[in-house]
Amino acid sequence: FPSEKSVSTGTAHHFSFLLNSTDYRILRMDEDHDRMYVGSKDYILSLDLHDINKEPLIIHWPVSQQRKNECILSGKDTNGECGNFIRVIEPWNRTHLYICGTGAYNPVCTYVNRGRKAQEYIFHLEPGKVDSGKGKCSYDPKLNSVSALINGELYAGVYIDFMGTDSAIFRTLGQQTAMRTDQYNSRWLNDPSFVHVHLIPDSAERNDDKLYFFFREKSSEMGQSPVSQSRIGRICLNDDGGHCCLVNKWSTFLKARLICSVPGSDGVETHFDELRDVYIQQTQDTKNPVIYGVFSVSGSVFKGSAVCVYSMADIRMVFNGPFAHKEGPNYQWVAYAGKIPYPRPGTCPGGTFTPNMKSTKDYPDEVINFMRNHPTMYNAVYPVHKRPLVVRTNVDYEFTTITVDQVTAADGSYEVLFLGTDRGTVQKVIVLPTDDLQTEELVLEEVEVFRQQLYVASAEGVTHLTLHRCDVYGEACADCCLARDPYCAWDGKSCSRYSASQKRRSRRQDVKYGNPIRQCRGYNSNANKNTLEMVQYGVEGSSTFLECQARSPHACIRWHVQKENSDRKKEFSIRGTREGAALSTQQQELTRAPKKKK
Ligand SMILES: *[C@@H]1O[C@H](CO)[C@@H](O)[C@H](O)[C@H]1NC(C)=O
Ligand SMILES: *[C@@H]1O[C@H](CO)[C@@H](O)[C@H](O)[C@H]1NC(C)=O
Repeated sequence: FPSEKSVSTGTAHHFSFLLNSTDYRILRMDEDHDRMYVGSKDYILSLDLHDINKEPLIIHWPVSQQRKNECILSGKDTNGECGNFIRVIEPWNRTHLYICGTGAYNPVCTYVNRGRKAQEYIFHLEPGKVDSGKGKCSYDPKLNSVSALINGELYAGVYIDFMGTDSAIFRTLGQQTAMRTDQYNSRWLNDPSFVHVHLIPDSAERNDDKLYFFFREKSSEMGQSPVSQSRIGRICLNDDGGHCCLVNKWSTFLKARLICSVPGSDGVETHFDELRDVYIQQTQDTKNPVIYGVFSVSGSVFKGSAVCVYSMADIRMVFNGPFAHKEGPNYQWVAYAGKIPYPRPGTCPGGTFTPNMKSTKDYPDEVINFMRNHPTMYNAVYPVHKRPLVVRTNVDYEFTTITVDQVTAADGSYEVLFLGTDRGTVQKVIVLPTDDLQTEELVLEEVEVFRQQLYVASAEGVTHLTLHRCDVYGEACADCCLARDPYCAWDGKSCSRYSASQKRRSRRQDVKYGNPIRQCRGYNSNANKNTLEMVQYGVEGSSTFLECQARSPHACIRWHVQKENSDRKKEFSIRGTREGAALSTQQQELTRAPKKKK
């Protein structure tokens, strides 16, 4: 391991671990132990974050042959379904992890001993400690589930039955009673597909802590467009359920619609209605992280995807706003205008607003009854600036995953988005603020997934991508500058990795404007009027192959011809390739100009 089976393309390494496994899906960082855990079919791996090439520690956790036979007899597929697909890897205590797998359609969980320190190289299943995985992990490996282990309790968005019809947000494992969403109540959850879960505190008071679930579900109304709706839902961590009704069911569950849309020229909104992935960017203020969502379009009308960004202030405003209400089957949804019981539905017990009610079991019956019938907020959550940050339409791929890195570059701080596509590539995108609320988007490079610090899990294996591939931008100062990659800067000799800690005077970079004239004066004598000119001469009557390679994806190439004894340069369009031209002329001048805006 892993030299024989790792494919290396420049700075990218692809691992398939010499294991007969597929479905590498769960990646979990353990910064205390400097390890990364990977879950796949029948295996859990522990990789060294310092040196990913070191042999991983491996746990093999298949199902018994008997279980496998039973699974096959129930009509499931031998390899696709009757394996133990690892879906939960959560830190349990200082020494142990809690893990769950689908167990060939019979979910199971257990503890993994990872030792006190990484140097111990301990990684094994704790013998004799197998739990049922019901309510923790779905039966069907194809159904998306999410989980979070908080204060010794496992919160999960899962399907809890063999048939995959009973979806729930479930709490198990701790001292408190098991809790769930109201069963088969489509107003609460309607065929959901869970995407992400994250604890976001509301105040310094821990009793106000809420767990947010991100998911998409079927529209509740028949024939409603769009058919799919993206949701943000939340529960109080200390919810004990109702006393009169909603016993052992969440009594603080609320959800709202997440909108990601662009207005069309005809005034009709195009909705990116299917939430695919969520990334939570932490800020100095733990109560106010920034939420990035990747969306695609449901149905087959057209292919498109977008990234929308949401603020917690907007999200809280929606949850503090009106509740959606429907008088009966033939009525429209309206904002509930009646009296709202106290404490306001969705408020956590023992919190800032309810210091005297220690448990949801102390809440008046009218609060609990109201919750059961009004789990949805009337208003939807709109993205920051009411439009997507990044949009892709008329392309043959969709974004499926996102991760965001905060980078300190030579000229400021930037957020770099890494967007995974359904084509197996990762796009590195930076979004720059420009005047009047407009934003400019830069695609830095599109790299294939086979590639340090960015880990990509897929059906085939795990890939490690380097974030700074500055050498691909070429050797000239202008090329480096035109690339506008905040990870890179020109150091006087080459385009190299920029690190904010290294105080070097001569680092040249201009992420905001990509203006090499300002940055590279003295380095490129022919840098002039925002263009770089390359002059090539041809002999009269002969053919010459002229080549101009743009190392920066933002450069645009223009070809001009200037005849002998003439001052006029004539631009002409190229036949043949974008970079080269076969011409038969007397004298030519090639001009390469940076493109200012997309
Ligand atoms: C790998 O697994 C597949 C399906 O589980 C099986 O058919 C195949 O024989 C295995 N190959 C090896 C080398 O173990
Ligand atoms: C962690 O939990 C495991 C499983 O319950 C237990 O065996 C182990 O003693 C615990 N370790 C510590 C340090 O508490």
